[in-house]
Amino acid sequence: MATVTLDHLRKDFPDGTVAVEDFSLLIEDGEFLTLLGPSGCGKTTTLRMIAGLETPTGGAIRFGDRRVDDLAPGQRNIAMVFQSYALYPHMTVRQNLEYPLKKHGVPREERRRRADELALMLQIGPLLDRRPKQLSGGQQQRVALGRALIRDPEVFLLDEPLSNLDATLRAQLRAELIQLHQRIGKTMVYVTHDQFEAMTMSTRIAVLHQGRLQQVGTPDEVYRRPANRFVASFVGTPAMNFLTGEIAGEGDRIAIAGVTTPVSLPPERAAALRELSPARDVIVGLRPEDILVGTGEASATIKLVEPLGHEALVYLDIGGQSVISRASSEMSLRAKESTAIDFRAARLHLFDPASGRRLDC
Ligand SMILES: Nc1ncnc2c1ncn2[C@@H]1O[C@H](COP(=O)(O)OP(=O)(O)OP(=O)(O)O)[C@@H](O)[C@H]1O
Ligand SMILES: [Mg+2]
Repeated sequence: MATVTLDHLRKDFPDGTVAVEDFSLLIEDGEFLTLLGPSGCGKTTTLRMIAGLETPTGGAIRFGDRRVDDLAPGQRNIAMVFQSYALYPHMTVRQNLEYPLKKHGVPREERRRRADELALMLQIGPLLDRRPKQLSGGQQQRVALGRALIRDPEVFLLDEPLSNLDATLRAQLRAELIQLHQRIGKTMVYVTHDQFEAMTMSTRIAVLHQGRLQQVGTPDEVYRRPANRFVASFVGTPAMNFLTGEIAGEGDRIAIAGVTTPVSLPPERAAALRELSPARDVIVGLRPEDILVGTGEASATIKLVEPLGHEALVYLDIGGQSVISRASSEMSLRAKESTAIDFRAARLHLFDPASGRRLDC
């Protein structure tokens, strides 16, 4: 069983930096779990603790029922691709790829076969006889990825393995990795700050911020029900809009500042919202696709239209509050003009202004 359990994991560095704090998570056997968060939030530190390259200063790590905190990296049956991939400079690409197998005594024929297979998948076939310094950064990264994938460990740990590739290759390898995971069904812990990668590849995403877990859920859950303002603003492009507002009426409507008519919530949401006291200030979260332009009772001023081909991003001023919406590129929208707007009430998010936490309704 290759579940990976993080139990109140913590890492203090000697200089006093708390890189990871109270991080608990059960990673299921065969799961593709992504650690997502901005630079410096503790992703690499967490992965290095799972790998055994960094010692936790608190909490525990288990693979299945077995506590691994005291095991050296070599005893953990993991394969890891580092953010700063280190290839052996004196070895050719083929030797680099085959090295992990050689170390484990795999016969030469089998090594060659596996290396050829991976070289084909990673499109480095013609480079097999070169040395790392004769490769571009992206090519080196593919070799590093291949070197990790050539083995058959219990757990794969991948730290931004696609970051040095150009957009086309990145999209291609993203698809390859998804298929590879489906084929081999191994537990993978994948680190990225790229929400697009996280959304497309993961079984579940764990969002980190300042060393703390913010939310863990499927890509859909994280997108549709973000646990707090941080998650809401980090996942989704353009980011979710935040407007100041107030719970109004019988607790079934939301008054958005600058909008004359309050937004009526669907009955099932209103029922839950009535539990929260009316006349209470809230932060209203609306994704760009949930602000409809050219229809509805509310109005806004168009500040800028950014055509993207298949759609346009429309920058709006709603009573002094700036928001971005998506619109069809067929609409003729012009800056400085005013437009009717509407809100998809069923998809409106509410957050507590003080704590930033999602209000459940
Ligand atoms: N050896 C160290 N000594 C002191 N602080 C460190 C050390 N390594 C990392 N840190 C700090 O710990 C925090 C987490 O670092 P970490 O490398 O885990 O971030 P990350 O999420 O991987 O970021 P990035 O996306 O930039 O790679 C940061 O504030 C970083 O400066
Ligand atoms: Mg990192």
